[in-house]
Amino acid sequence: MEVKKILNNKKQFLNLLLLADEQEDMIDRYLENGEMFALYDNDLKSICVVVKKDSRIYELKNIATYEKYQGKGYGKKLIEYIFDYYKGKCRTMIVGTGDSNLTIPFYENCGFRVSHRIKNFFTDNYDHPIFENGIQLVDMIYLKIDL
Ligand SMILES: CC(C)(COP(=O)(O)OP(=O)(O)OC[C@H]1O[C@@H](n2cnc3c(N)ncnc32)[C@H](O)[C@@H]1OP(=O)(O)O)[C@@H](O)C(=O)NCCC(=O)NCCS
Repeated sequence: MEVKKILNNKKQFLNLLLLADEQEDMIDRYLENGEMFALYDNDLKSICVVVKKDSRIYELKNIATYEKYQGKGYGKKLIEYIFDYYKGKCRTMIVGTGDSNLTIPFYENCGFRVSHRIKNFFTDNYDHPIFENGIQLVDMIYLKIDL
């Protein structure tokens, strides 16, 4: 298993990025400035993008594992890798997600804890309603971890 930092042509991973963030122009807002990491175990399994917010805070903007490889530990391995990578570079890592039982338990399992909520983020910023597990996402839930 190895994690590679992707420097060029980040859009080649669009199919994976869209699993986590289904509106491409929202991905475009962070892809250029974001640092991208790809986890390979023979072939590609997971991808993530991290953005610098300020000198103390980095934000995990996107993480996705191919559907057929989900639940096998790859997402957590990639998060552990970026925790190690950013330790010393920042104090805190944050991540925002919908109020969904598909993602919040995953982040909590990786060590994040719920921090705050941005009301109506999904309804204000996306051009169509976003549903996860049949439930419409409205607020953005932020989780954080001190590295
Ligand atoms: C969320 C996602 C990245 C998790 O990646 P993954 O490779 O499937 O996760 P892992 O297999 O590494 O899971 C790590 C741990 O979290 C737990 N976990 C993952 N999803 C969970 C869930 N919905 N509920 C409870 N626990 C969960 C796993 O059971 C595992 O626990 P363990 O360490 O005790 O075995 C993946 O499901 C995905 O790509 N989803 C679609 C894209 C997405 O929604 N991204 C997040 C956008 S905010």
